[in-house]
Amino acid sequence: MTETGLSPTMDLRERVIIVTGAAQGIGAAIATALAARGATIAIGDLQPADQIVEKISTAGGRASSGHCDVTSAESVAQFVNDTATRHGTITGLVNNAALFSAIKPTRFEDFDGSIYRAAYDVNVVGTIGMITAVTPIMRNNGYGKIVNIGSSSVLKGSTMLLPYVVSKGAVHAIARALARELGPDGIRINTVTPGLTLSDGVHNAGNVSAERITDDMRTRALAREQTPEDVTGAVAFLQSADSDFMTGQLVNVDGGSQLH
Ligand SMILES: NC(=O)c1ccc[n+]([C@@H]2O[C@H](COP(=O)([O-])OP(=O)(O)OC[C@H]3O[C@@H](n4cnc5c(N)ncnc54)[C@H](O)[C@@H]3O)[C@@H](O)[C@H]2O)c1
Repeated sequence: MTETGLSPTMDLRERVIIVTGAAQGIGAAIATALAARGATIAIGDLQPADQIVEKISTAGGRASSGHCDVTSAESVAQFVNDTATRHGTITGLVNNAALFSAIKPTRFEDFDGSIYRAAYDVNVVGTIGMITAVTPIMRNNGYGKIVNIGSSSVLKGSTMLLPYVVSKGAVHAIARALARELGPDGIRINTVTPGLTLSDGVHNAGNVSAERITDDMRTRALAREQTPEDVTGAVAFLQSADSDFMTGQLVNVDGGSQLH
């Protein structure tokens, strides 16, 4: 409650939220933005996320991190158990970890089958594995908020990245298919679809050309580059009580490129 006695919007105090793949990029921005609204953040990533935890702590927020490979049921179970023990419970999950920037743009028939399987393993099986691991805790609380990070590339039909685009199409299906199974337990599940975003992955891997970035920008009603911070407000909304009557929905955040 504020001094006025009115609840502030998108208040995340008393929340414990896992953000996967938040050692860098969009996930790091999401973790920071949720912490700024009062949530305790638990980052699970293949890479150490000490810098993000330190940034949040220095700003007066609460965060921890641990090794988590979303493709491994054992690793996921260990991380989720450690998080619940350390922070008392888990109220929210943001499935952000993905195989994306490692996929080099290629004509679909030239992609090796192993790349389709790897993208499906991280993006789809990893997302479902995380949901499976947190569900008993959320069921026990009678409340939970899950946000899956999808991709506007599915709405757009982006070319040359078929293993990624089809895996993200499956990610979009997860919230639609699970909303009714999780609803009776008070668990909400929604999808946020960023447009082409200048994340660490995009900067470092160089799998998106400057030309593609400029071309994409021109398709937007708001014609500028998209930053990781642009994605955070929609995720905070879907983690907060303000969206408690929304589930199974897809919220597109791409500057009005796709008018979904
Ligand atoms: N950047 C974009 O243009 C864009 C556009 C639409 C959607 N997205 C989605 O947003 C999310 C973040 O993208 P980004 O560009 O910030 O990515 P990124 O490549 O910068 O970061 C991805 C993070 O996920 C982690 N990760 C990868 N595999 C993992 C695994 N098996 N277990 C745990 N962690 C793992 C990596 O270590 C890394 O920290 C992804 O879901 C991506 O598909 C990105």
